[in-house]
Amino acid sequence: MTAAPETPALPTTRPDGCPYDPPGEYADRRETAPTSKVRCPAGMDAWLVTRYADVRAVLADRTLSSRGASSVHVNPNADLDEEISPGSIIQLDGAAHARLRKKVIAEFTVRRMKALRGYVRSLVDSHLDAMLAQGAPADLVRDFALPIPSLVICELLGVPYADRARFQRQSATMVSTDATREDGERAYHELSDYLAGLFTEKRRNPQDDLFSRLISDGADDPLTMEELVVLGLSLLVAGHETTANMIAMSTLVLLENPDLLAPALAEPERAVEELLRYLSVVQWGVLRYATSDTQVGSRSVREGEWLVAALNSANRDESVFPGADKLDFARESPRTHVAFGFGAHQCVGQQLARVELQEALTGLFRRVPDLRLAVGREELAFKHNTLVYGVRELPVAWG
Ligand code: HEM
Repeated sequence: MTAAPETPALPTTRPDGCPYDPPGEYADRRETAPTSKVRCPAGMDAWLVTRYADVRAVLADRTLSSRGASSVHVNPNADLDEEISPGSIIQLDGAAHARLRKKVIAEFTVRRMKALRGYVRSLVDSHLDAMLAQGAPADLVRDFALPIPSLVICELLGVPYADRARFQRQSATMVSTDATREDGERAYHELSDYLAGLFTEKRRNPQDDLFSRLISDGADDPLTMEELVVLGLSLLVAGHETTANMIAMSTLVLLENPDLLAPALAEPERAVEELLRYLSVVQWGVLRYATSDTQVGSRSVREGEWLVAALNSANRDESVFPGADKLDFARESPRTHVAFGFGAHQCVGQQLARVELQEALTGLFRRVPDLRLAVGREELAFKHNTLVYGVRELPVAWG
């Protein structure tokens, strides 16, 4: 008797030589096995969904639960049966999710974010002043890409930036896939305690910020302290880790493709959408759980099975993005990508991220047109073990 073939492992290795491309296996799978089973580092098997149309269908399917979102499948220490905290917007489903989303979505409208643009621009300018005054080389991550989104999200939420050392460290631990369970839990509890203290203070002394409004706006349907803390934590971590990595990776890819700089500066909105597609920094996709039998393309998915919607694979699907492996700022319909997800959980902070990316990249390359890498690319360390892909340090020089 021949043994049943082993379920292949979730592809995790990016091709040599191009730190921007997802694992090469995705392209083969899109052709030959677009939705097929893989074994995940968390120990369970999941349907890996690789085609654009199927990824969108999965993310729009209300019978699929987000209880393992965003990417619990890549954490070897994950407890798949862990109870979902009330307040965990990204993991809740149906009415419980809609209730929380309604409370925050108005804070992130296109209009609100446009009003914030001037503030973001002033931060970009002051950080560039400081970087240029300090002299080359600089670490673009430490001196620019991380502090700008961090300051913006702190201002928006009402979190004192002076406390950043602790929550930047805790956020980084929480998105790391190789932190031990103890370290992950410690970071979560430390950050929760910190936020509980902050909400208690805001209850006494409300300010003009999102956290204060979350407390005071809900007279007929107030959030509990646990909900406030977990929702606050989700916003703080999401607001830090994603945009900072996108700014640093976008800078790197533009430094390596100098012919794309002029078109990027001419049409930053278009360029940012294409960078979001091309880089797809939510590198492990988003996890879903079947609460009843359903269908993905020609596959029958059974109740109790897991699915990984591979955003980075969908964003390289040639049938939607011809020449998908090329960064092309002239692409038609640049907003078609799924870098911010799709459906009920599509990113709440996407307008904010767009404004930050547009301002950071245009500000940087207009002020420092001769920016260059201060080390060889082979010396850069990339974040292969975090939920959000990026580069750890980006030494740059000019002049
Ligand atoms: C370039 C930057 C960003 C990228 C690529 C990104 C990506 C994503 C993705 C893919 C999802 C969907 C997760 C799922 O379906 O399970 C998501 C959800 C979310 N994002 Fe972002 N994000 C970014 C910036 C931000 C910022 C700046 C915030 C600020 C608060 C934010 C807050 C959130 C929240 C709260 C959710 C959960 C929404 C829900 O479950 O209804 N994100 N993001």
